[in-house]
Amino acid sequence: MDRKKVTLAELQQKKDSGQRISMMTAYDYPTARLVDEAGIDTTLVGDSLAMVVLGYESTVPVTVDEMLHHCKAVKRGTKSSFIIGDMPFMSYHVSVEQAVENAGRFIKEAGCDSVKLEGGSDVAPVVNAIVKAGIPVCAHIGLTPQTATKLSGFRVQGKDADSARELVTSAKDLEAAGAFMVVMECIPDLLAARITKELTIPTIGIGAGVHCDGQVLVYHDLVGLFDRFTPKFVKQYTNLSPKIKEALIQYKTEVENGTFPGPEHSFAMKQEEAEKMEN
Ligand code: KIV
Repeated sequence: MDRKKVTLAELQQKKDSGQRISMMTAYDYPTARLVDEAGIDTTLVGDSLAMVVLGYESTVPVTVDEMLHHCKAVKRGTKSSFIIGDMPFMSYHVSVEQAVENAGRFIKEAGCDSVKLEGGSDVAPVVNAIVKAGIPVCAHIGLTPQTATKLSGFRVQGKDADSARELVTSAKDLEAAGAFMVVMECIPDLLAARITKELTIPTIGIGAGVHCDGQVLVYHDLVGLFDRFTPKFVKQYTNLSPKIKEALIQYKTEVENGTFPGPEHSFAMKQEEAEKMEN
């Protein structure tokens, strides 16, 4: 099916008309194609790349160059989905200038449609500067994995009234700074519902309940390709790991016992040429 490029106006229109928005992560060309062909509205090249693809312990070590390498592959596999490139830890913290320059690389070099960055009211000036440079910004509040150590680990945020109020303020400040969307990770569903009601821009939840304007999951969690840990909010729609492993074991067995490749995977030579070759 030929789908047109998803635009910011369409994403906003979905919020305004009560239609839910789908977001999925992708980090390479074949996955980006599948996500795009499934008609998912937005593709996030998340810094979860660090853990689910590159095998790091956390999202902290991944660099701008590594992110751009994968964003470029996703861009090549995407026709219509709106691409969001995730700015990694310390790529927008040193100065506003550094943040704008790095955000620009996601757009100019990798062809992303927008960038995402983590943080609350404290990063609103950075969001504002990037937006003023003409780059759409998706914010990310609640559990922010880049600063999980500061949050004392991967835990639900905004569970008490004070921290919940702080998150409402952050969401509003980020909207005022010009963010076009806010991802809310691991917060109580009631709080997510309240933020979703108070903001005019769309909210996307991950572990934030059903009352958000849309949802995001990490691709490797959804298809069972990452088993180091599984947060409560993950729904595994299929489990590819055992299927892939089974295929690999079968391949190894067939290589070893000589049943692969069969004649159907081999190229024939004319008898006369074979005879000439022997002489
Ligand atoms: O990096 C990522 O995949 C994310 C999502 C979990 C929202 O930030």
